[in-house]
Order: sequence, then structure tokens, then C-alpha cells
Amino acid sequence: MRKHIVAGNWKMNTTVAEGVELAKAVVAASAEVPADVKLIIAPPFTHLYPVAEVVKGTRVGLSAQNCADHVKGAYTGEVAVNMISGLGAEYVILGHSERREYYGETDATLVEKVKLALAEGLSPIFCIGEKKEEREAGRHFEVVTEQVKNVLFELSAEEMAKIVVAYEPVWAIGTGLTATAEQAQEIHAEIRKVLAEKFGELAEEISILYGGSCKPSNAKELFACPDIDGGLIGGAALKAEDFIGIAVSF
Ligand code: PGA
Repeated sequence: MRKHIVAGNWKMNTTVAEGVELAKAVVAASAEVPADVKLIIAPPFTHLYPVAEVVKGTRVGLSAQNCADHVKGAYTGEVAVNMISGLGAEYVILGHSERREYYGETDATLVEKVKLALAEGLSPIFCIGEKKEEREAGRHFEVVTEQVKNVLFELSAEEMAKIVVAYEPVWAIGTGLTATAEQAQEIHAEIRKVLAEKFGELAEEISILYGGSCKPSNAKELFACPDIDGGLIGGAALKAEDFIGIAVSF
């Protein structure tokens, strides 16, 4: 059976002190969540060290939100994969639409980042998703297929087995608009089909998360879909009660 995952992407929110409190609240409430659901939180880089202390020995996993596309050296302001893994994080979100859109991340850069993360033992939570105008033009399947092929098709099966995919329609992120369960299921199934073209049966084992205004009130319907294996949660991950409220929807 595929792993169920609920991951919280805190983005550029909370101070270190607030983040530590939020992590503590998530850990405290995590007992309510079914044991087969993996919980992950992705605070800003600056919080990783103290938050790692909070989640150590608990069921809550730790993720970074990005990493550098080089191993080390003269890259002012960047954070390398071994700096992330050295703090006890096991995951890294890569290719989030905000990185693609505001920081010019391309598929070529993402291939580098995904490979470096994997080589360091981190599991990338690899994000894909179409923009509003692309969906309106009926190009959503084409766009996500290209994103998958351009990056994930560069991996070996062994590497692919460590990837978590997150489908996040850009028009649904932080907008309050959610893809309907039908829209999400349809595209998740398509993503799995595309993965199967290259990776065969392994595609059945890859967790594909939905992201985009997921909240306690809509999580149940989304998670009930056969190809939706969890969620990547933004806004609702900033309140432990809402984050856990989503995770108990399985
Ligand atoms: P949202 O963000 O839940 O606030 O829409 C999701 C994400 O960008 O990961």
C-alpha cells in the first residue's frame, strides 16, 4: 500500500520562537492521527535546528523548503543539502510553484537539486502543477506531463522510489479555491500513468499528494480518491489544529 503523507509547508511564516511552539503543538496533537499517516513539517531554514530538537524521536518528520543546486562553495545565501541533512531533516520540498515563478527555477535546475538531495539521502517532495491560464486552455495534462518528464524521467528507478510527488494547481494555492475531488483524482491518475511509462509498477508505490487550499473541511473528500495519497498543506499548516484536522481525514 502507498504511504499516506500529510506535509505542512510553512513557507516564509513564523518567527523561530513561533515555529518551535507550532512544532510542539503538532507533536502534541499527532497522537490523534492514524498511525499509517506520515506527518511532515517544513519550516524555514532558520528554524530547522530548533525544530529538529522538538521532533526528534517523535512521529513527525522534518523537511526543508528548498536547497542549493550546488554541493558547496561561493554561493552566497544558499543552503546545501548536507547542511539540511545534518540537522536531521529527511525531506526537501523542490520545485514549488512559488520557486518556479518568483525565483526562476527551471526544470534543468530542478534536475540538479533533486539529484543532489537524493545523493545526500533526502527525499524530495517534488511539486508540479498548472497555472490558471493553462487549465483554462485545457493544457493541464500536458503541463504536468512535461514537468514530470523533464525532471523525474532523469532519475533511476532506485532514485524515483524515494520521491514524493505533490500536485499543486497554481490557481488553487493560497486562493481558497480547491480543485474538486474529481479534478484532482483525474490528474493524479494521469500523473501516475505518466510515471508508469518510465517506471512501470513502481508508479503504483509513489505517493502523490494534493496541494492547494486543502483544509479540514475538504480533506476527507480529496483523500478518499484512489490516487490521492495525502496533502501538501500551506496556510492550514500554520495552525496545529487545522493541520491535524486534515491529517485525521484519512
Ligand atoms: P495552500 O498552499 O495550502 O496555502 O494553498 C499549498 C502549498 O503551496 O504548498
